[in-house]
Amino acid sequence: MNRYAFRASLLHFLGDPFELGARAMQYFDDGILLVEDGRVAAIGDARELLPTLPPGTALTDYSGKLILPGFVDTHIHYAQTDMIASYGEQLLAWLEKYTFPTERRFDDPVHAGEVAEFFADELLKNGTTTAHAFATVHPASVDALFGAAERRGMRMLAGKVMMDRNCPEDLRDSAERGYVESQELIARWHKRGRLGYSVTPRFAPTSTERQMELAGQLFRDHPDLHLQSHVAENQGEVAWVAELYPARRSYLDVYDHYGQLGARSVYAHCIWLDEDDRRRMAETGAAMSFCPTSNLFLGSGLFDLDAAQAMGVRVGIGTDVGGGTSFSMLRTLHAAYGVLQLKGQSLSAARAFYLATLGGARSLYLDDRIGNFEVGKEADFVVLDPAATPLLERRMARADGIDDRLFALMMLGDDRAVAATHVMGVAKHVRDAH
Ligand code: GUN
Ligand code: ZN
Repeated sequence: MNRYAFRASLLHFLGDPFELGARAMQYFDDGILLVEDGRVAAIGDARELLPTLPPGTALTDYSGKLILPGFVDTHIHYAQTDMIASYGEQLLAWLEKYTFPTERRFDDPVHAGEVAEFFADELLKNGTTTAHAFATVHPASVDALFGAAERRGMRMLAGKVMMDRNCPEDLRDSAERGYVESQELIARWHKRGRLGYSVTPRFAPTSTERQMELAGQLFRDHPDLHLQSHVAENQGEVAWVAELYPARRSYLDVYDHYGQLGARSVYAHCIWLDEDDRRRMAETGAAMSFCPTSNLFLGSGLFDLDAAQAMGVRVGIGTDVGGGTSFSMLRTLHAAYGVLQLKGQSLSAARAFYLATLGGARSLYLDDRIGNFEVGKEADFVVLDPAATPLLERRMARADGIDDRLFALMMLGDDRAVAATHVMGVAKHVRDAH
């Protein structure tokens, strides 16, 4: 048996701080995390656990650092890595000007492979151990991404984009081809190790009604599949959907009509929804991915976390790279805080880190495997360095308790604050290694 112990400050969530208050968070100032064969075997105070460790247990001393469960990025586009931070447009013009030309290059598997390897390393560099990702319309782009994740042992959900209208000709599949190619990818990758397939209709405007039907059918016909799409991100987009689907009550209702709402379906943005939409998401078990850097960058609007919470909808955090401007979940939480301030809402550090870990895992229905350090869970974790920069170090010297330290980390931190990232207990990124 492989047995490793890690000594550091340890923090994880047993529930939602919004519901449980301070009881939601468990914190050990000087803790031990014991990992056996890649899974959590014990967590507790160093004083108590150190004497109980079996002789010969390898101990890594991360004293002075803070270990958290690996971050869960519930919405990201790996193929948009190279166009991150492209100037000046809102959603629909941005798709035409930057996104489609960038995604076109993924007809070349060599290019797809190179980007996928960089992307997976960049996630790990930022402490993200699970991602729910869009590939492109090209099946080989999915092979490249799953291959990169598998080589690193990462948990990854991904799928081939389905789009058969309102996009460039050479990026189009057809309703039938999209269906068949998705099925082939499901057969090849779904539930292989830590990988899972996610049916990926890009968004309602780029699919015909036939394709929407077939995407819903795939989602229904295969148990345990995920589904990912975008909804109600931008007001121009919402108006366009109303023209394309005049019979539907709302944009969300389009997805509902075609059987695409349910447990394990994840919708990015969810800004311009109404109460009926939110109720429907809660009823069906669908999740929202809150993508604050993207929503600011594309000028899309302000996500309403309180309304989602009040209705009991599952919510996770997404970077939405390349509409989003950072791979860093810390920077994304910083943006989430700002968005909610503009909305007159608050985001405590506890709630923020919950959303980035256990909340994300719950929104993906993966919380039986990841999201915290309950015994038996997969030992994916990030080692944060509270003294990563001179400014962080000064601020930490004045910090008052763990909540204050967490808040400073999410406001000032980025990939520099990630000292190491472990996947199933094994270090896959070490900041100072190169
Ligand atoms: N809506 C449809 N496609 C996209 C995309 O690639 N990014 C974002 N942010 N929204 C979308
Ligand atoms: Zn997106």
